[in-house]
Amino acid sequence: MRVVTIIGNRPQFVKAAAVSRRLRSRHDEVLVHSGQHYDDELSAVFFRELDLPAPDIELGVGSGSDSEQVARIMHALEQVTGELGASAVLVYGDTNTTLAGALSAAKLGLPLVHVEAGMRSFDGTMPEERNRVITDHLADLLLCSTPQAVDNLGAEGIDGGVRLVGDVMADITLSALPIAQERSDALDRWDLDAGAYLLVTAHRAGNVDDDEPLEKLVEVLEALPSRAVFPVHPRTRARMEETGALARLEAAEHLTLTPPLGYLGFLKLLANSAAVLTDSGGVQKEAYLVEVPCITLRERTEWVETVELGWNRLVGLDRERALDALDHLEAPAAHPGLYGGGRAGELVVNAIDVWAAAGGPGRRQ
Ligand code: UD1
Ligand code: UDP
Repeated sequence: MRVVTIIGNRPQFVKAAAVSRRLRSRHDEVLVHSGQHYDDELSAVFFRELDLPAPDIELGVGSGSDSEQVARIMHALEQVTGELGASAVLVYGDTNTTLAGALSAAKLGLPLVHVEAGMRSFDGTMPEERNRVITDHLADLLLCSTPQAVDNLGAEGIDGGVRLVGDVMADITLSALPIAQERSDALDRWDLDAGAYLLVTAHRAGNVDDDEPLEKLVEVLEALPSRAVFPVHPRTRARMEETGALARLEAAEHLTLTPPLGYLGFLKLLANSAAVLTDSGGVQKEAYLVEVPCITLRERTEWVETVELGWNRLVGLDRERALDALDHLEAPAAHPGLYGGGRAGELVVNAIDVWAAAGGPGRRQ
């Protein structure tokens, strides 16, 4: 079967690294990079570090508003996908690249496989929530990371083609952790002692696009009680430059601002931190897997099990709640295995095999 996989953002490069080579051992995969992320540190570094096959096709669509990106990716995809003789389209997660891939598959009449289906924050203001809901409702094979995701789909009346496979990002975290610990010099590079610093990431549109939430985020960071490393996403950097917040944070002695880091360096910093403050989806999961307490700078999360187990606290952009969470950082005693234990990529490909053998790609469900 010829599968056209469409990726384009940092977390998707990590996810595809768990699937792509395995998929190619049994099927013909054409890897399409939308170009939504294009800087070396948001894109190429992941291909190098995670042994992800080079893209077969690069659409080079670049930055723009959500609608511009979706429209440009769809237009570019239409030009190439029709000629590829694809049997199915595969997308990951919830970005504009995901939505454009899903809509293009629908327009071209191609069956759609969605990896990381069924995640919900129940926050309709997030572009990601709209992207994943639409993608799930267009998908034929829905591969879920968690039992909660399966339930979420059921609640929306989607039960055909749904499989629980575990989380493909977890495969990479678990396999890369010993490599990162051994090879990365990230602690030395910033003169950090294990367990004695915080790690920060922030890039959600709802947290950084408008001045008011951005100011609250900056106030949380200025108030942190210990050394903190903050690899700054370009969306956030651009906004902080506009408001003058960047200069404030650069002037704060306890904060070390860096460019976005490669996967191994970031994982090394995460695994050795006292805690991470983040609004990222992927980082919440990774923190759980490396057993580091997570403080999530949002009011809701898709990864509810990390909160239920006490490893993750939702504090929004509230400085007092964040500081209180930092005052109570004890790691819970229980750390049950979640997310499939490193086998999700294998189960994704198995599910695609079974689906293909049953004629799935030949009919939309
Ligand atoms: C996107 C996804 C988000 C995901 C994130 C992963 C959507 C709606 N959002 O957000 O779900 O969590 O990727 O990191 O798809 N920029 C650069 N260099 C790049 C890419 C972007 O400088 O290589 C800058 C541009 O100014 C751009 C801004 O970052 O306008 C935002 O990029 P964009 O891809 O639109 O959204 P992300 O915030 O990265
Ligand atoms: N990540 C990275 N370098 C960084 C920040 C994050 O390699 O400086 C990785 C992180 O380990 C995770 C992924 O990027 O695998 C998460 O991407 P992001 O937070 O951009 O997106 P989200 O998961 O929120 O969609």
